Amino acid sequence: MIRSVVRGFGASLPKRVVTNREMEEKVDTSDEWIVQRTGIRQRYIAGEGETTASLGEAAARAALERAKLTPADIDLIILATSTPDNTFPATAVNIQNRLGMHHGAAFDVQAVCSGFIYAVTTADAYIRGGLARRVLVIGAETFSRILDWSDRTTCVLFGDGAGAIVLEAQETEGTNADRGVLTTKLRSDGAHKEKLYVDGGPSTTGTVGHLKMEGREVFKHAVGMITDVIEAAFEATGTTADDLDWLVPHQANRRIIDGSAKKLGIPLEKVVVTVDIHGNTSAASIPLALNEAASDGRIKEGDLVLLEAMGGGFTWGSVLLRW
Ligand code: ACO
Repeated sequence: MIRSVVRGFGASLPKRVVTNREMEEKVDTSDEWIVQRTGIRQRYIAGEGETTASLGEAAARAALERAKLTPADIDLIILATSTPDNTFPATAVNIQNRLGMHHGAAFDVQAVCSGFIYAVTTADAYIRGGLARRVLVIGAETFSRILDWSDRTTCVLFGDGAGAIVLEAQETEGTNADRGVLTTKLRSDGAHKEKLYVDGGPSTTGTVGHLKMEGREVFKHAVGMITDVIEAAFEATGTTADDLDWLVPHQANRRIIDGSAKKLGIPLEKVVVTVDIHGNTSAASIPLALNEAASDGRIKEGDLVLLEAMGGGFTWGSVLLRW
């Protein structure tokens, strides 16, 4: 059976770090409020010349280097982003060009904070279907550019960055012990649009718009939705929380992460948390967290790793893989 196996990973962050203390100078907030409600201590904010494509390109190059591959080895690039460089063409195509790659195909997927889960799921379908052998999957965002910097209820929560993995088709026995993506689960429900959206767009206002969020409403739904897709992944594979080596959740809020882990009986020592240093980087948060935990040796080859996210739409989903 063909499996999509992680062959490399990488990440890239903007140069500038903005601490909670600096946020206190911009809006009426405090380090204490932000840390207590979210766990966020700092975020990276893109400066002049840093865009979703430039961060995505750097993350892609790092992932290729670790995989000991070049762009010539890649068949497909899938970029998860809600903050593209342009309305069109797709930022994935821009990254493809920046990598000097003029073969294969590249496209964006847009599922806000669940974007990386959607992109990995799509890449896995291409690989298992025999349509691609190696896929570069990137999550890259510059949410700082769609924030209303006078709105303290949202601007303290988000940051910029990019992460990437290379998925490669490998022939395996197809058991839970084999490496690669074991199962993926995607969900969406557009009835929740007004709770988390951007109030602009090419077809409505002709402007980019700003992020709007009813934080308490999002919070109310988050744990239940995350639990739903994690339990579905366990059921599909006959695994349980005890089998997991690592949970790598979307990094929106420390309280959501802790609440979901507790509900599922996953000890916090098995949860990768980077929201304190990155803030919420939307589709980039999971590959950024993967890069941290795999670089420092926590996630090792053969580990069972569960990814999950929930975000605007609402969209939510999970990926269970053996690293
Ligand atoms: N600094 C200080 N006070 C603030 C701030 C701030 N930055 N923001 C809001 N407050 C105030 C509010 O005005 C309110 O004051 P009031 O009681 O006088 O009206 C008080 O703090 C409490 O506000 P709540 O919104 O009720 O605070 P809550 O405890 O719900 O925390 C938060 C807010 C952190 C946004 C929380 O609701 C949350 O994390 N929600 C989930 C958000 C999330 O995960 N979003 C990402 C989804 S992923 C995606 O797709 C983008």
